[in-house]
Amino acid sequence: MTLILGLESSCDDSAAALVTSDRQVLAHIVVGQNDAHRPYGGVVPEIAARAHVEILPGLIRTVLDDAGMTIADIDAVAATAGPGLIGGVMVALLAGKGIALAAGKPLLAINHLEGHALSPRLVDPALGFPYLLLLVSGGHCQLLEVRGIGDYRRIATTIDDAVGEAFDKAAKILGLDYPGGPAIERLAATGDPGAVPLPRPLVGSGEPHFSFAGLKSAVQRAAASDKYRPQDIAASFQQAVVDCLVDRTRLALGQCAAPALVVAGGVAANLAVRAALADLAKSEGRAFAVPPGWLCTDNAAMIAWAGAERLGAGLVDQLDAPARARWPLDGEAGKVRGAGVKA
Ligand code: KG4
Ligand code: ZN
Repeated sequence: MTLILGLESSCDDSAAALVTSDRQVLAHIVVGQNDAHRPYGGVVPEIAARAHVEILPGLIRTVLDDAGMTIADIDAVAATAGPGLIGGVMVALLAGKGIALAAGKPLLAINHLEGHALSPRLVDPALGFPYLLLLVSGGHCQLLEVRGIGDYRRIATTIDDAVGEAFDKAAKILGLDYPGGPAIERLAATGDPGAVPLPRPLVGSGEPHFSFAGLKSAVQRAAASDKYRPQDIAASFQQAVVDCLVDRTRLALGQCAAPALVVAGGVAANLAVRAALADLAKSEGRAFAVPPGWLCTDNAAMIAWAGAERLGAGLVDQLDAPARARWPLDGEAGKVRGAGVKA
């Protein structure tokens, strides 16, 4: 059994966690910065990086104290090394390097997306490789075949916005709080998902890619028309997103023989998304796994767990491991026609 300290600071959440290789989360804490970014309606990189510098050291102290441990007790330190907002990424990575150097512990430089990708295995010991992963977060919307630790085949991606980004933009249009996903979900609960006619971009197309830019524009037009109640727009938007995710994932399942479908990333915290994909897996004869909500949105337990998996596989990093703004899980995957350059 090994004990891993996990550190995360790649976007607007500072987080630390202590996790064991036998799946115990001894301590974990996430401190968001919503108040700092709210006036801007999105994350301001410079503000985020400075806040991580102030917050993260205290969180490391807190998780060690909560677990009754010291740095001497850990076997390795796992820090997110990308992708993300580079100023923020450098905070956890440098903190991890400092601890590794001072305490003589191995460093694990973790791809944040691998943290999301492996997170279901932290809570589900029965989930083996391979599985089809729908990775839905603020910066990503991808379908990947997870073949093993560090071994990914990208089947599809978004050609414009990420799905979490679409939730955040729709929320902004409706005058809701940042981050938009949870706000849309709450408002949608009181609305009619069939009230507003909205497009389902790329549904029915031959490759399982995603597109959400047109949906966002349609939400903008619906809101500007003053014909619809905000809760009906929210519910109809959420339903359109769910329909897109289900249609695209069904197509990808036809291209991937993996026995299980897994959903991870911040948008996987959405109950409508979870329920629809669980139904899809059932109808396609696949097992289904989704982490609990706290493990879907950004956290350091998933980073520590990815570290435990990589340490177990002997994949230790050197102290010169780079911080990366862009870091695809499948380095071989080419650009999709129409795709932007989002990290
Ligand atoms: O994985 P995550 O915490 O950070 C990234 O790595 O991007 O994902 C954050 C995204 C945000 O866009 C947020 O609006 C969305 O996940 N999100 C949700 C929900 N909770 C978070 N979207 C829909 N419904 C939710 N309940
Ligand atoms: Zn994330």
